[in-house]
Amino acid sequence: MQIPQKRVTKLIDHHKVAAFPPQPRLKRLLEAAVKSPEVWNWRDSSASACTNLILLDIDMTDAIRPLIAGNWKMNGLKAQVAEFDAMLNGAADVTGRADLLVCPPATLIAAFADRARGKKVTVGAQDCHPKASGAHTGDVAAEMLVDAGAAAIIVGHSERRADHGEGDALVRQKAEAAWRAGATAIVCIGETQGQRDDGQTLDVLRGQLDGSLPDGSSAANLIVAYEPVWAIGTGLTPTSQDVEQIHGFIRELLTSRFRADGARMRILYGGSVKPSNAAELMAVKNVNGALVGGASLKAADFLAIAKGCP
Ligand code: PGA
Repeated sequence: MQIPQKRVTKLIDHHKVAAFPPQPRLKRLLEAAVKSPEVWNWRDSSASACTNLILLDIDMTDAIRPLIAGNWKMNGLKAQVAEFDAMLNGAADVTGRADLLVCPPATLIAAFADRARGKKVTVGAQDCHPKASGAHTGDVAAEMLVDAGAAAIIVGHSERRADHGEGDALVRQKAEAAWRAGATAIVCIGETQGQRDDGQTLDVLRGQLDGSLPDGSSAANLIVAYEPVWAIGTGLTPTSQDVEQIHGFIRELLTSRFRADGARMRILYGGSVKPSNAAELMAVKNVNGALVGGASLKAADFLAIAKGCP
């Protein structure tokens, strides 16, 4: 069977950005195809035997793999390493459904990253300074976080925007700092209760996306987290209909600015996600995972949220 060139190109494209590796046999075929896509002849290779697998893989990669990211905020002492170990132990049961990321306070990144080596949980950070080094007492550079073992860095969380007056321009610089250090940027956006009451939600989100996302954002280097400020730590969540409307709006903006990459970028929902509401929220169109605060501090809750992914 000959697979049309368009599908081959699409498959190669997916392969380059896929967050998870395809099966070994398919991987070998793809590597050969990446080297010389124009002369790759599926008929003359063992590809025909793999056709079903390949088509299956296209379907799988068409769906964005969910990410469940834990934001520990300013919580966690060395003693909480045991809770993280429990997450590592339970991770194998849920990684069929989602990728897992835990962002502890900066003081625990190195310890967590050491324990996570070779395991199915990635470690991230909660903030970074835009500069790589210098006279900035108390700040931590993205390079330092990556050196300690962080693979992703949250930037622009509403608590940083509110507590430290961080605006979109600074958030954008921080996202670029994450890339400079080799980490994925998780950029948070979200409206306050007052903005929501005034009917400004979509305008606020558009402004934050325009201002906070650097040019060059791609599905591989950037994740958007939509976190309505009024839902964070309150137990309140928007309805599934509201989440669908807002995530659809974000997807449209991402696709119009970043084209194919915008269509594949993960959009996480955050704000009072817990085991009891995770399945409903994660089933909403254009929700590609969750950014979880309070419920990420307990391994059982964090893993149960991941189990809620479709
Ligand atoms: P929450 O926090 O899950 O405790 O509401 C979410 C966040 O702020 O990332």
